Amino acid sequence: MCGIVCGISKRNVLPILTEGLSRLEYRGYDSAGLAYSSKKSVTVVKNQGRVADLVNKVSLKGIETNQAIAHTRWATHGVPSEKNAHPQFSKNKIYVVHNGIIENHNNLRDNLISEGYKFISATDTETIAHLVHFFMEKGLDFESASLKAISKLQGTYALGIMDKDVPDLIIGARNQSPLVIGQGYDENFLASDIMALAPVTNKFKFMEDGQICFLEKEQVQVVNSNGLKAKLKTQEIDSHSYSNDLGGYNHFMEKEIFEQPKAIENSLEGRLGKNETQEGIFGAGFEAAVKDVANIQIIACGTSFHAARIFEYWSHKFLGINCRVDYGSEYKYQEPVKSKNTLLVTISQSGETADTLSSLKFAKKTGDPLTLTICNVANSSLCRESDFTLLTNAGPEIGVASTKAFVTQLACLNLLLLTLMREHKKLPSARKKITSALKDLPKHVGATLKKLDAYQATAKLLFKRNSALFLGRGLYFPIAREGALKLKEISYIHAEAYPAGELKHGPLALIDKDMPVIALVPDNEHLDKIQSNIEEVAARKGKVITIGPLGRTKIAKEGGHIKIPKTLDLLNPIICVVPLQLISYYTALLKGTDVDKPRNLAKSVTVE
Ligand code: M6R
Repeated sequence: MCGIVCGISKRNVLPILTEGLSRLEYRGYDSAGLAYSSKKSVTVVKNQGRVADLVNKVSLKGIETNQAIAHTRWATHGVPSEKNAHPQFSKNKIYVVHNGIIENHNNLRDNLISEGYKFISATDTETIAHLVHFFMEKGLDFESASLKAISKLQGTYALGIMDKDVPDLIIGARNQSPLVIGQGYDENFLASDIMALAPVTNKFKFMEDGQICFLEKEQVQVVNSNGLKAKLKTQEIDSHSYSNDLGGYNHFMEKEIFEQPKAIENSLEGRLGKNETQEGIFGAGFEAAVKDVANIQIIACGTSFHAARIFEYWSHKFLGINCRVDYGSEYKYQEPVKSKNTLLVTISQSGETADTLSSLKFAKKTGDPLTLTICNVANSSLCRESDFTLLTNAGPEIGVASTKAFVTQLACLNLLLLTLMREHKKLPSARKKITSALKDLPKHVGATLKKLDAYQATAKLLFKRNSALFLGRGLYFPIAREGALKLKEISYIHAEAYPAGELKHGPLALIDKDMPVIALVPDNEHLDKIQSNIEEVAARKGKVITIGPLGRTKIAKEGGHIKIPKTLDLLNPIICVVPLQLISYYTALLKGTDVDKPRNLAKSVTVE
């Protein structure tokens, strides 16, 4: 989604900001722009398309500026176009970059039009620029006019604002859209994501909702919405872990798939003892807090939702605790029935997914007191809103299609399962076995990454098809859904996942010789039933590819079979997702789609 990077310095900030924009590309965007001040005037450069095109459009080389604001836009209000790209401006004086959605922009726009303002874009952001200008016309200075304008905004925003006539000041504001201040020596920066600033600083202040900041070269002031000075801790963050280097791979998705064994190791490191999880890994007091937990509610979106659905099975089977999973975008609307002693868990790679975040806030307001987030980004909004956090430690995930985030979420959810089992005194010998099998998971995932021929051969079967079906039962059904999501998001092939037993209740009508079906075949009590489902498809000439821990000879009639390493039944689905990721990846390569930045999608979905 949209990205912001602004800077004010004694040195030229333009190369820093353009590099920052490139580092934000992974979030997904359709246009980019920047405004820089030089010799008492401000120049705006905007472009529909890639950041590289923006830099080439007018040669930014040779231009020097000490102050600029820059943006990548993912269209919400108004089509992707140069006009709608940010910065938006008012009367060549006030310049604004904005992430989020201003919900009352129509009212504000009407009022401003009646005051004589002309709008040239379809964006909600242009309203903000005119509003600041309007209050300046009424006699307020830039700071007071900005404060007043911001107080009129309803909705979500991260803002960077600049006034042509007030050099050496950039104003930032945050409400439910991330914004971080990066501090340097005689320079300060503002960004929606520390990824943008990692090459220039390791000192960050994370702004909170309602706060406004005043960025100058030598200092930064932060105030709360009431105008009173706010104190924000400066945090030192190792910027090396924010590398956006492909490291010899062709795509970030490919790199991140192959990083999975190491990523799982990092998730588990220091968290597992000989037979149990270590105490305190979720934060001090977690064990005492979960002793009486009788219900688990999980909220997540997309891939993170699929990880949650797997935990649901684990919770029922190993804890006997009822677990409910809801989409972040739906939870609030279901008028959830609150139960006592509920542990509310959010799962998210980015920690900034607006749907998940707003549901967490809603849950807290409506009486869920105990909250945990499983998240990949320290200091993200979900981490800050939750009582307890378990970081997945997967390292930055740049590819829009989530891969290593998923397997590390599952590793962390397994740590949650083991911890709850211990605190609820469940199945000590199973705990021991699971702990030991979890330690072997990186090795099995590593072995699964070696069967590239099989994945490429399957991709050849898929890439000319219009649709594909994924089947699974029990724990493998969420994996089938994850496989279908991967295929559709990066190859644009329509893919659906069904619980295998549901096939005969409708989707069987789709089966003919042109329909590839990927069936996940476990080595458990579901085996016979899924064998029958495979035969149902084969009898109608559907092309079935099977994936699972059993050998080829043990599977009923099939087109091709991919054998994965066998581990405990509860962990095997984690290994099973790896072939699905790679099959999607190779299918997308054959189709020639933009693997890391699939059309219409954003990495971090910060609007509801
Ligand atoms: O950052 P989150 O895990 O909260 O993101 C949730 C979804 O937007 C995300 O998983 C999305 O579905 C991915 N593109 C899937 O590959």
